[in-house]
Amino acid sequence: MPLNIKEVQEYWRGQNVPQQWYSNKEPFSLQWFNDLSKKRFKTFYSYLHKDAEFEYHSGEKVLEVGTGIGTDLVQYALNGAKVSGIDLGEDQVSFTKLNFDVRGLPYDEIKQGSAEDIPFDDNAFDLVLSFGVLHHTPNTELAIQEVRRVLKEDGQAIVMLYARGWKHYLKRCFLHGILLGKWFRFGFSWQAVYNEVSEVNGGAPKTGIYTKRQVKKLFKDFPEVVIEKRRLGEFFEYAPYRSRILPEFITNILHLFKAQALLGENWLITAYKAPPPKPRSLLGVLFKNY
Ligand SMILES: C[S@@+](CC[C@H](N)C(=O)[O-])C[C@H]1O[C@@H](n2cnc3c(N)ncnc32)[C@H](O)[C@@H]1O
Repeated sequence: MPLNIKEVQEYWRGQNVPQQWYSNKEPFSLQWFNDLSKKRFKTFYSYLHKDAEFEYHSGEKVLEVGTGIGTDLVQYALNGAKVSGIDLGEDQVSFTKLNFDVRGLPYDEIKQGSAEDIPFDDNAFDLVLSFGVLHHTPNTELAIQEVRRVLKEDGQAIVMLYARGWKHYLKRCFLHGILLGKWFRFGFSWQAVYNEVSEVNGGAPKTGIYTKRQVKKLFKDFPEVVIEKRRLGEFFEYAPYRSRILPEFITNILHLFKAQALLGENWLITAYKAPPPKPRSLLGVLFKNY
């Protein structure tokens, strides 16, 4: 039976504050929001602050699809963007608004809505961000079409989807799928294994984990798409559940050799709605000024 979006909504209602257990500050205070933000950008997603281009969209119209508690959307607003956001969950919408209110930050519209039917007009935004969301919605293809629809003709999307990196093959497939027998128990369905083991509390209705070829197919209607792997993640960049982290020199060596391009567990997808400028020929460049 096809997955109903209500199931997705219900699942995320119970997990509506990503990474909340990492702060001991008063929940929903400014200090608490700040603490989660610091941990997110310095530790858990250290690539995000640069790659989400928070500083480069001042004065532009930015939409976030799947805001969670609004940590990323706040960054665009702090840098002068005119921001809007949607999330499937009512609670997440309230938390995101609260995150803005405790800072006295303005926003255009933050409301409940689905990525599969984005409640905004065509050609409305300069930038759409969706981080760790579209792999959870039943119809990811439709959600990406919707992202494209609401972008202005020269607009840009930044999307994070899960990738098949080290964690995928070692942890999901080998340890959980084979050694713990989940692949056999779930009727030889890898998708069922991914759904079961990928989120912190497990048992998500859908968690897509993609190859580069699948990502290319999903974004086929964008004339220019840059797809790169990011994030070595747990044990390398942070100690999961306050456990252990590998010695820093190992992580540094892996970063030195750009290992995340091969082993990274996130796809960072930057997609442009307009075609890129035409490339010049090599000879053309050589005989040009500059
Ligand atoms: C893993 S959290 C990510 C939240 C935030 N982007 C972050 O990185 O912290 C997934 C979020 O996506 C939302 N979500 C799931 N499916 C959605 C959909 N179809 N439309 C809008 N939001 C959705 C959930 O309610 C949840 O808040």
